Amino acid sequence: MVDSSAKNEDMSGSRAPDASESGSAFLPVDSFDLVVFGGTGDLARRKLIPALYHRFCDGQITGKSRVIGTSRSDHGRDDYVQLVHNAYHEFSGDDDYDDKCWSDFAALLDYVSLDVGDTKADWAALGKALSKDKNRTRVFYLAVPPKLYVDICKGLKAAGLVTPNSRVVLEKPLGTDYGSAKAINEGVGSVFEENSIYRIDHYLGKETVQNLLVLRFGNILLEPLWSNRAIDHVEITVGESIGVGGRGSYYDGAGALRDMVQNHLLQLLCLTAMETPASLDADDVRTEKLKVLRALRPITSENVSDTTVRGQYARGKVGDEVMTDYLTDVGLDDSQTETFVAIKAHIDNWRWAGVPIYIRTGKRMAKRRSDIVIQFKPVPHSVFGDTKLNPNRLVIRLQPDEAVKLWFEIKEPGAGGMRLKTLPLNLSYADNFTVRYPDAYERLLMDVVRGNLSLFMRGDEVEAAWKWVDNIIAAWKDTDQRLELYQAGHDGPEEANDMLSKDGTKWV
Ligand code: BG6
Repeated sequence: MVDSSAKNEDMSGSRAPDASESGSAFLPVDSFDLVVFGGTGDLARRKLIPALYHRFCDGQITGKSRVIGTSRSDHGRDDYVQLVHNAYHEFSGDDDYDDKCWSDFAALLDYVSLDVGDTKADWAALGKALSKDKNRTRVFYLAVPPKLYVDICKGLKAAGLVTPNSRVVLEKPLGTDYGSAKAINEGVGSVFEENSIYRIDHYLGKETVQNLLVLRFGNILLEPLWSNRAIDHVEITVGESIGVGGRGSYYDGAGALRDMVQNHLLQLLCLTAMETPASLDADDVRTEKLKVLRALRPITSENVSDTTVRGQYARGKVGDEVMTDYLTDVGLDDSQTETFVAIKAHIDNWRWAGVPIYIRTGKRMAKRRSDIVIQFKPVPHSVFGDTKLNPNRLVIRLQPDEAVKLWFEIKEPGAGGMRLKTLPLNLSYADNFTVRYPDAYERLLMDVVRGNLSLFMRGDEVEAAWKWVDNIIAAWKDTDQRLELYQAGHDGPEEANDMLSKDGTKWV
């Protein structure tokens, strides 16, 4: 699951050269056919096509593979190529662009216009665009609203396009609650085996998120401290400075809890809290994550107001820029949708009993910043008299400025007694690595082609996450929990700070 692609540094500090310095350490994949449903949509244009282009330019994808965009729009192949080419420049910039490489990559691209609920002719056209080699890996990527997932899978089956080597990729959100997620799992499961279903959470493809596994299970130092014996609390923040952009109609029906917590934040929580898996095989890792989800204490009408805060951004400034409020952004007079959520969670098991896990995420916060903070307990007894001792803290900065920082107390040098200072051991990615960090989708798409399910969610995981989130939604409804406004450019409403100060702590 994890490529050992970090530069080798021996313990004396001298560095051994490694092939990965050139960014070329990867496993090549066999030729494949990949069909993108929603091929003209936002995800395909911003993420999927650029990711495939980069894997092609690095030589991981060969010229015999095919990438077929489909959507209802009537495009010729050349129009489609032009459309995704323009989008590349718009969203990915020019820094990693190479004209010759793009034109070689473009030769892989094709387009089929297809109305999922419509004529057989469309499905037949898709069949024609696919390789005749039935043993070749076929990937069907569903970058479309989840209500279409089951129909597309059934359409593929009816058209005879599902071969033994076919895989389906489902984008989040997988449904809108437990019931709809279960229905999707069952519907898709009637066409594809569980081990051919790739449920994407792109956070799992991020370098620093994968590094969580290496940090925890590749080092002996942390494990003995990784529990309620030494940890006071954990904090997980995924902050965004952007607003809802052009996604208002989707977002207003979802909100931060469904859009971010049900998937990205709970996955981060699982990787932080799970037991050591027997191996990095998909099922070993997913089973451990599932145990964490099942041990999450349910949030109910009795405790929801003490353990959750929901907020919505109002007009304000992010940096120097004045930002409009959420209602203006989504073009509505009224909306009770939360763009910020903070939760005090508990994992009811031996390792984590009594350790609050604070999670928060929001749009239009002060800056884009995702961190996992492990706050250790104070030393049991201080021999330094009245001198203040700051407890150790581990900060895993997921993005941007990727780093792992471990804060220590050390003696400030000099005469005049014992003065203490809190300083970090700083493992900054920028100082240690020079490779281009592949976008999460590059890694995940290649894992689909290679048949590696480790970084994808299993059906039961998704359902367990929904069950926990559904309880919160029901409790909000039941208690009519207030939506607190916060100014754009602030880290959520004051109530999110109050929730922690009641516990004698604050967000880092
Ligand atoms: C998506 C959410 O899954 O993740 C978006 O739907 C959010 O609302 C995005 O902006 C954040 O991803 P990243 O990779 O930019 O942190």
